[in-house]
Amino acid sequence: MEIKQKGCVVTGAGSGIGRGIALALADAGASGIIIADVQLERAEAVCVEIEAKGGVARPFRCDVRQSQSVERLADFAWDTLGHVEILCNNAGVIATGPGFDTTDEDLRWQFEVNVYGVFNGCRVFGRRFLSNGTKAWICNTASHHAVGTPTAGVATYVATKHAVLGFADAFRLEYGESIGFSVLCPGIINTELWDAGRNRPEELGNAFKGSEQNHAALEAYGMSPEFVGNLVAQGIKTEEFFIWTHPYSIELIEKRYLEGVESIRRQWPDGPLPIHKRTPGKV
Ligand SMILES: NC(=O)c1ccc[n+]([C@@H]2O[C@H](COP(=O)([O-])OP(=O)(O)OC[C@H]3O[C@@H](n4cnc5c(N)ncnc54)[C@H](O)[C@@H]3O)[C@@H](O)[C@H]2O)c1
Repeated sequence: MEIKQKGCVVTGAGSGIGRGIALALADAGASGIIIADVQLERAEAVCVEIEAKGGVARPFRCDVRQSQSVERLADFAWDTLGHVEILCNNAGVIATGPGFDTTDEDLRWQFEVNVYGVFNGCRVFGRRFLSNGTKAWICNTASHHAVGTPTAGVATYVATKHAVLGFADAFRLEYGESIGFSVLCPGIINTELWDAGRNRPEELGNAFKGSEQNHAALEAYGMSPEFVGNLVAQGIKTEEFFIWTHPYSIELIEKRYLEGVESIRRQWPDGPLPIHKRTPGKV
């Protein structure tokens, strides 16, 4: 979908990938961009950057965990820009450590931001897009973890990213005539994600800082978030469902799906059952 003259909203745009997406949308000629984040001062700083290069951007404090907050964001976006056609549900957080050590609070925090947050954005903006009747686009930031790339230490984060793919897969079947969907599947990007704990709310255990080791890895291997932003703008223009940042993801996908294919062949060596392909127990 063409980005020129479109009204855009990006969540989690005060930092990292969201900031990169917002800058790229501005470069692609968006008529205006709402920079939504829980960190208002960071959102304001990104607006200053965009305005300095001739774009139009306005900050808005939004906690994507709360559907009312996302409704207020949508009201603000339409009131400010006059029209909105592109939403990037990008805000996300991570908590690391052995899976069984995950606290209830960290489980809730990650699911509330990464899953409820993306769902809230899709539902609130999706309903308005449908009633507007103009073609719209929603890009949800997942991860290469969305397609099955098992990694020790991030079990619950990975589970949230599978959910993001799950929504988008069904939504494009249900609403694809009116709304296009993309799923951004980044590998390692040099952002402040390991310090996501800076935003952990009081009721879910307060802020925490990421490990030095994780920071070092990001700095050594992480792709620039501005580069990712350009990939997203390109992916929206060319109407890609999956947007990848790291070609090596192909090995992870092949391994994952081959395991599925091979195990079906092993368990059902004669191939599909002739009558009830989906209900073998009934044969
Ligand atoms: N950095 C990576 O290697 C990587 C890889 C794959 C996927 N991702 C995903 O990319 C997205 C962006 O993360 P990032 O790497 O740019 O990290 P980041 O921490 O730099 O940016 C995340 C932004 O989200 C905001 N945020 C956090 N909770 C929020 C909430 N409840 N409501 C609104 N905003 C909130 C933060 O304030 C921050 O500005 C996340 O969904 C993350 O899971 C990142």
